[in-house]
Amino acid sequence: MLHGKRILLIVAGGIAAYKSLELVRRLRERGASVRAVLTAAGSQFVTPLSLSALTEDKVYSELFSLTDESEMGHIRLSREADLIVIVPATADLLARMAQGRADDLASTVLLAADKPVLAAPAMNHRMWLHPATQANIATLTERGVIFVGPDEGAMACNEHGPGRMAEPQDILAAVLNHFAASAPLAGRRALVTSGPTHEAIDPVRYVANRSSGRQGHAIAAALARGGADTVLVTGPTHEPDPPGVTVRRIESAREMLAACQEALPVDVAVCAAAVSDWRPAAAADQKLKKKGGEAPAIELVENPDILAGLSEPGNRRPSLVIGFAAETENIVEHARAKRARKGCDWILANDVSQGTGTFGGAENTIHLVSAEGEEAWPRMTKTAVAERLAARIAKHLEEPA
Ligand code: CTP
Repeated sequence: MLHGKRILLIVAGGIAAYKSLELVRRLRERGASVRAVLTAAGSQFVTPLSLSALTEDKVYSELFSLTDESEMGHIRLSREADLIVIVPATADLLARMAQGRADDLASTVLLAADKPVLAAPAMNHRMWLHPATQANIATLTERGVIFVGPDEGAMACNEHGPGRMAEPQDILAAVLNHFAASAPLAGRRALVTSGPTHEAIDPVRYVANRSSGRQGHAIAAALARGGADTVLVTGPTHEPDPPGVTVRRIESAREMLAACQEALPVDVAVCAAAVSDWRPAAAADQKLKKKGGEAPAIELVENPDILAGLSEPGNRRPSLVIGFAAETENIVEHARAKRARKGCDWILANDVSQGTGTFGGAENTIHLVSAEGEEAWPRMTKTAVAERLAARIAKHLEEPA
């Protein structure tokens, strides 16, 4: 999946340029956003209008355009991309890349880019086999450019040989491979709980808490960005579904537990939900009515502890189970005790003594407590906490047990 990935597509001038339109569709179907740079020669084969309609974005063509430069400098074009894809990579553009020229927008973007480049060459077979082109390919390969194709086959010039551009599905596969290889959590499965739970009193009333779900959702998004196959089990929140994550919506703690069990086996479970500790012993079937000034007594019973349940030894136990703790004092000491009580591997103790609180705030101050000791993280946004946690998880899962 390519959710959240930004592709800068460079379309150069060759008859195979029409295939770039199909590639845009395939990339976008998989969740990538695509921005296109069209060379002057490229615009002889596809129109800016088709590319713009399919990318749903402006198409960039001119190096010395006042509007292009004020809206989006050529440096920003590559800075805001995760991968640059050249479709088709013509003999001329490859030669200019190899020489480090910057004589149009495409070559300037490529020279200024510090992003990976994937190129799909397309040209007449004699041009492809020419020692000049082969030397350029060798130079660019050495510099890290990834090549897909060319294929061998019938060409538009009625000749036969190597030089036909790879088909859009093969270019897409190369893009997917590239991201899978650069994803530290590729092949891992992750489970995240988030948000509050609602525990029914009757059909219209419930017991809940103020959890926003921001931290849990941010963690699920970061794990998915890292390549993990991620399931998010969430109580009711206003947070949008994170891209590329399988979202299971539940209301009560017992439903959360069932959805978590269904998501097993996973490599890592992160319990960020603020699960209601108690629920009404019995939810009334009908709405409770006022009875002459007498308030109903609501008996509460304890909810299952999902984190403790996931941490229980057994062959379905995730290799890494992580819980959260909200603390105001003796943070590390309390977190250590909680870690032992719940049987989990890591506790992210959240220092809520500094005013912003855990619920709804944009930032967290985390102490990571594990068997190895304690790590104090600086105060940071919940997105930054999520990124750092995903990177720590990836590193931990890589280490041999
Ligand atoms: N948790 C859970 N299921 C519950 C209760 C809590 O999975 N029924 C998880 C939370 O998702 C969180 C951790 O356990 O990861 C928090 O533990 P909890 O005992 O609720 O601690 P605190 O909220 O920090 O509160 P207390 O100070 O009461 O221990």
